[in-house]
Amino acid sequence: MTEAVRFGVSIHPELQRKFDALIEAKGYQNRSEAIRDLIRKFLVEQEWQDDEEIIGTVTIVYNHHTRELPDTVTEFQHQHYRSILSSLHVHLDVENCLEVIVLRGRAGEIRRFADRLIGTKGIKHGTLSGTTTGSKLP
Ligand code: NI
Repeated sequence: MTEAVRFGVSIHPELQRKFDALIEAKGYQNRSEAIRDLIRKFLVEQEWQDDEEIIGTVTIVYNHHTRELPDTVTEFQHQHYRSILSSLHVHLDVENCLEVIVLRGRAGEIRRFADRLIGTKGIKHGTLSGTTTGSKLP
């Protein structure tokens, strides 16, 4: 394992107080772990901005009685089968369905997929959650 490096940070005392209160509330054991997570968050955001290969998770909720909607959702996923790693369908009640679709691809391509699917008529709610393949992070 590569040895960790240490560095000092100058910070306004009030900012430090707020940071310490926040990371304690979030359950971090120490500042170092919180700062490592913030750096990784920055790097993953940059991967998305640079249109690198990333992982996206799209979650949608819809009523499967809506005319042609289940077929449209299925057809759309077949058109993008190369980017879809996995999907999960949950019957929430007698009419509402939740679908989670995990995708791997260029950030722009995944964003377009999410925008089009979430924007499909009849989809009640949809979100895109972005993460990394992990291959570029130590
Ligand atoms: Ni269902």
